[in-house]
Amino acid sequence: MRDMLRKRVLVTGGAGFLGSHLCERLVQDGHEVICADNFYTGTRDNTLALLGNPRFELLRHDVTFPLYVEVDEIYNLACPASPIHYQHDPVQTTKTSVHGAINMLGLAKRLKARILQASTSEVYGDPAMHPQREEYWGNVNPIGPRACYDEGKRCAETLFFDYRRQHRLEIKVARIFNTYGPRMHPNDGRVVSNFIVQALRGEPITIFGDGNQTRSFCFVSDLVDALVRLMGTSDAVTGPMNLGNPVEFTIGQLANRIVALTGSRSTIQHRPAPADDPRQRQPDIALATSTIGWKPVVELDEGLALTIAYFDELLAGRGR
Ligand SMILES: NC(=O)c1ccc[n+]([C@@H]2O[C@H](COP(=O)([O-])OP(=O)(O)OC[C@H]3O[C@@H](n4cnc5c(N)ncnc54)[C@H](O)[C@@H]3O)[C@@H](O)[C@H]2O)c1
Repeated sequence: MRDMLRKRVLVTGGAGFLGSHLCERLVQDGHEVICADNFYTGTRDNTLALLGNPRFELLRHDVTFPLYVEVDEIYNLACPASPIHYQHDPVQTTKTSVHGAINMLGLAKRLKARILQASTSEVYGDPAMHPQREEYWGNVNPIGPRACYDEGKRCAETLFFDYRRQHRLEIKVARIFNTYGPRMHPNDGRVVSNFIVQALRGEPITIFGDGNQTRSFCFVSDLVDALVRLMGTSDAVTGPMNLGNPVEFTIGQLANRIVALTGSRSTIQHRPAPADDPRQRQPDIALATSTIGWKPVVELDEGLALTIAYFDELLAGRGR
């Protein structure tokens, strides 16, 4: 399915968690990659394996400003992704999603380039439908503290489809569900990174609620594979397409696996569940499976082991 000819590819947000893995995959596939990032949540360190590679170029650039480069494809990933980060400067978050989309779509229009948007399951908001299929329009509070992210991403989707209708652009919209792996931020408040950091430091692992609430997490290499496959589809395939891992496990099981895999002596502590904590969050990936022949292959233990190894090295470097 993948076009093996060498292409020039722009990845915005390419110094972040997902973006840096995507850049590596594209360079491995033989493409020339330009990574544009303002290092808001990403770092040069995330791209260390690629710096010095003649097929990789790192640009410090904020996508809320226009960018003039010559490329064949654009992956638009720039945007802080965890609540702690995107609520820190909510106006900038909306600007990044909306102005960033306008600037990148403008670039794609000028170049007649294909463009993929990293959208999110958060466009479904507090869903009244489980699991969420792509036809569901969502239930988002437009004035709450999460709206800068959710509505920004929804508006970006609108812009992608309007550019397609108005300018015949080749667009792909991926709705990404929770993804984990090496280069996640250690302090972004997400459950996988929280538990791993607590286990490695020998601190108690804090579970909010009884631990029977279920979650689904996709390992980063599976997600990157899906993005590349989606970009490689024919013009008729636009998405939006859910991408994530539908395999569910309980938060209690996750904590136990992390304790076992780290060999930690951490105990498990329960705290009251937050009021809006969903019992279940799971993607429906039937469309991805039928359209791009994709489903995740990395098992939880395998993905956790790779993620733990990353955090172990990171924390050792920081003296824990
Ligand atoms: N990780 C997930 O589970 C997940 C889930 C759904 C959607 N997504 C989406 O995928 C994309 C990447 O997420 P991630 O988890 O890698 O997050 P991340 O924070 O690690 O990466 C985002 C990158 O964008 C950069 N960035 C932020 N604002 C920018 C701006 N104005 N100009 C240029 N660069 C900017 C950051 O510095 C960072 O490198 C985001 O768009 C996010 O919304 C991620």
